[in-house]
Amino acid sequence: MQVAGKTALVTGANSGLGKAVATALAANGARVLMLCRSAGRGAAARDEIIQATGNGQVELIVCDLASQADIRAAAAAVHQTTDALHFLVNNAGTAFAERGLTEDGVERTLAVDHLAPFLLTHLLLDLLEAAAQAGEAARIVNVGTKIDTAMDCSDLNWERRPYRMMAAYGEAKLGNIHFTRELARRLAGTGVTVNCVFPGVFLSNLGGTDGAQNWALKLFAKAFGWALPKPARAAERVTWLLTADTVAEVSGEYFGDRKPIPAPAQADDPAANAELWRLSAGMVGLDGDAR
Ligand SMILES: NC(=O)c1ccc[n+]([C@@H]2O[C@H](COP(=O)([O-])OP(=O)(O)OC[C@H]3O[C@@H](n4cnc5c(N)ncnc54)[C@H](OP(=O)(O)O)[C@@H]3O)[C@@H](O)[C@H]2O)c1
Repeated sequence: MQVAGKTALVTGANSGLGKAVATALAANGARVLMLCRSAGRGAAARDEIIQATGNGQVELIVCDLASQADIRAAAAAVHQTTDALHFLVNNAGTAFAERGLTEDGVERTLAVDHLAPFLLTHLLLDLLEAAAQAGEAARIVNVGTKIDTAMDCSDLNWERRPYRMMAAYGEAKLGNIHFTRELARRLAGTGVTVNCVFPGVFLSNLGGTDGAQNWALKLFAKAFGWALPKPARAAERVTWLLTADTVAEVSGEYFGDRKPIPAPAQADDPAANAELWRLSAGMVGLDGDAR
């Protein structure tokens, strides 16, 4: 599929996988909207991508995905700048070392990793549907991770359980697969597809800005980072899902390297998908029946 002339939005586009995906899309002629939380880091990455690709249509939208007000403002800014969106890559992710609440009263890792893509996608669906109605590509890719866990839907905010960073990260990222499954059902017949991808393990700055990387992880990255794939390699899994003709009609799947992989059992339960949807809608102030 041709990428040139299409409009993409990539979250967390200033670093790691998001930057690599934004670069690949820009290199192939797409207009790329980079959603980044830091104006400085975002502008530096945008300038670098323009320089590297020669594509001047790379733009920055500053948004802290931990803030629902920021997400709503970013979605409004996207509506100001385009009438259609062809690719939405919900890539931004993090893990907080300590439990803390956002200004919306939500545990931070859940807020950024699960609720932010949930809300942002809802607010941009009309633009994706406009692309589909024009007979063009309209694909959402949610970047998940591979972890065998189950979400405790009775304690999404980690109020009852002792907070543990990797457990909170794993549960929030499992939310990406639940969301993908349920959204695909709700989008059936619209021409908009949504899939989730495990990008593999690769060298990045994951969690670094939020102080989540402890010394052991930093030392590990320093000692063995050379052996890990670079983000550009991981980005191929994402760009393939965005552009391959073979997956034009595929929706609601969880992919590894160009093929579906098993998800944790809970994510294969439609009732659990629907229940998390209902709870998530409540946490971001949306009607649970809203797509
Ligand atoms: N690295 C791996 O091995 C691996 C494995 C499986 C899945 N993943 C997934 O891949 C995705 C990308 O991670 P990465 O490894 O490329 O890490 P990364 O280099 O740290 O990139 C993460 C991006 O998300 C952004 N971000 C974090 N919190 C944000 C917030 N509140 N608002 C807006 N943007 C925010 C970061 O912005 P700042 O630069 O401002 O922090 C950064 O641009 C994540 O979803 C992660 O879960 C990674």
